[in-house]
Amino acid sequence: MCGIVGFIGKKRQAAPIILDGLSKLEYRGYDSAGMAVFDGDSINVVKAAGRLDLLVSLTHGGETTKGLAGIGHTRWATHGQPTDINAHPHLNGKGTIAVVHNGIIENYMALRKMLVGRGYEFKSETDTEVIPQLLDLYYKGDPLEAIQKVLHRVEGSYSLGIIFADHPNELYAARKSSPLICAKTEEGAFIASDVPALLKYTRKVYYIGEEEIVRLSADDIAFFDVDALPVEKEEVEIKWDAEAAEKGGYEFFMIKEIYEEPRTVRDTISPRIRDGKVVIEELGLSDEEIAEVSRIHIVACGSAYHAGVTGKYVFEGMARIGVDVDIASEFRYRKPIIGEKDLVIVISQSGETADTLEALRVSHQCGATVLAIVNVVGSSIAREADKVMYTWAGPEISVATTKAYSAQLVSLYLLAIKFALCRKQITEEQAAGYINDLKKLPEQIELLLGGKERLQRFANRYIAATDVFFIGRGIDYAISLEGSLKLKEISYVHSEAYAAGELKHGTISLIEEGTLVVAVATQKELYAKTVSNIVEVKARGAFVLAVTNVGNTDIETNADYVIYIPETNSYFANSLAIIPLQLFGYYVSLGKGFDVDHPRNLAKSVTVE
Ligand code: G6P
Repeated sequence: MCGIVGFIGKKRQAAPIILDGLSKLEYRGYDSAGMAVFDGDSINVVKAAGRLDLLVSLTHGGETTKGLAGIGHTRWATHGQPTDINAHPHLNGKGTIAVVHNGIIENYMALRKMLVGRGYEFKSETDTEVIPQLLDLYYKGDPLEAIQKVLHRVEGSYSLGIIFADHPNELYAARKSSPLICAKTEEGAFIASDVPALLKYTRKVYYIGEEEIVRLSADDIAFFDVDALPVEKEEVEIKWDAEAAEKGGYEFFMIKEIYEEPRTVRDTISPRIRDGKVVIEELGLSDEEIAEVSRIHIVACGSAYHAGVTGKYVFEGMARIGVDVDIASEFRYRKPIIGEKDLVIVISQSGETADTLEALRVSHQCGATVLAIVNVVGSSIAREADKVMYTWAGPEISVATTKAYSAQLVSLYLLAIKFALCRKQITEEQAAGYINDLKKLPEQIELLLGGKERLQRFANRYIAATDVFFIGRGIDYAISLEGSLKLKEISYVHSEAYAAGELKHGTISLIEEGTLVVAVATQKELYAKTVSNIVEVKARGAFVLAVTNVGNTDIETNADYVIYIPETNSYFANSLAIIPLQLFGYYVSLGKGFDVDHPRNLAKSVTVE
């Protein structure tokens, strides 16, 4: 979603650093960009709707916007259209205070009304503009005091970067429920809403806490709570390296990240298998405590939710424990019933998804223990959860998730094996068999990646498709949900996933001559049933692409095109079947000439409700 970068330097110009940092956050999704730089005299603002490139050319790469302190922003429109005027930064009327903001100020209407009543004039339609105006109202020479007063007035979520013209050697930041980090280096101090913006300069960062205020100068950073009392903070070292967030010769991040899946899966599994046993230290629960968990609630958004749907089938089948799986934006408002001995598992790549974070907080209010499966170390969800199981996918840049989703899946498998053993639903020998299958996954994924040209040829035939249906039963249904999302989100082809048995209750009426149906049939005990559904859609003229296990060659009698996945146990089939479906989505988007990594209207990390 929106991105923030700020810099205050000793000698280095702020603008080129801000533009470079913003370019590293482009993947989050945005529709306008801007920056404000203090040149020693006044604050100069340049902003424009459209891509960051436009801002780069308007400022000649930052050359024409001189100054050692500045703040920049990429905006993903929420309140008001993506126009030049609505782009950040926003200023007070005198142009002496500039603000960039991520999040939503929920009481902005009331604040705006109050400010208008006091003679303040507004230029934009944004919620953000109340902040510089409120700062103006409260500012009596002490920025910290003014920010503190503003934070007491605003409701909602925010990460803020602020500069004051009469405090040229300082840059301010604050946050609540929206990510923001800061760092100091030899050359100056930085703020950023996400790690990739800073990787080039440092790997040591500070995570700004909830409702904290930060004062940065070229050689110091000071932290304060919302009452302006000093806060002590320790630097955190980021393990990701700068190259991991670069394309490294690939045309798009998405294909690079698909290629990183074998490594991601290996890195997520291997530290948790010791002497042939699953060891998940982060869980912090004894075997007896695990055995006593009475129900699991999995809560997440988007693809992470789809991983959760698979998790439900795996936990229930393997560990025989009841699992509810919920979309976080629904869970948080539906008054969930969570028992004392229940475990809530939230899943999130970014660790910043607003609804998932709020679902975590709701779970805490219900007294539940929350385990988070998260990719970004130190993210809000990681910090607020009781236990964290990190997926070791490294930075994921493409908006459409691939490797992080795969890492989430194997994390759930590891947990399910552990739960199944502790609940005595499987023997040590069966667990060893599952572990063996888990260890084979990276190589099997590599094998599937070897078939990418065939997928590309097939995708090129379907570039003009307007409707695609994905069908499957059980875990194959969960795979279908994710396969369908991958296709639609990046190629803008309407696609739907259906539980194969449900298709005939309505949607089958949409099947006509040539409609593409992707049938996933990896679950042995459901195979014959899904084949029957293939026959049904074939009878209505569908063209069927089937994804099934190697050896099921009889499917060729009914399906028009078949992709075989290597042999694994039914529980882990998702990890293999999803690879051709990710590639299919990628190649359709590529074939249509779209910007695969930045699909329209989408954001990588959805930090607003
Ligand atoms: C956005 C992304 C999806 C992601 C979802 C949840 O919609 O585009 O790829 O699955 O958010 O994000 P999270 O960071 O919580 O996994």
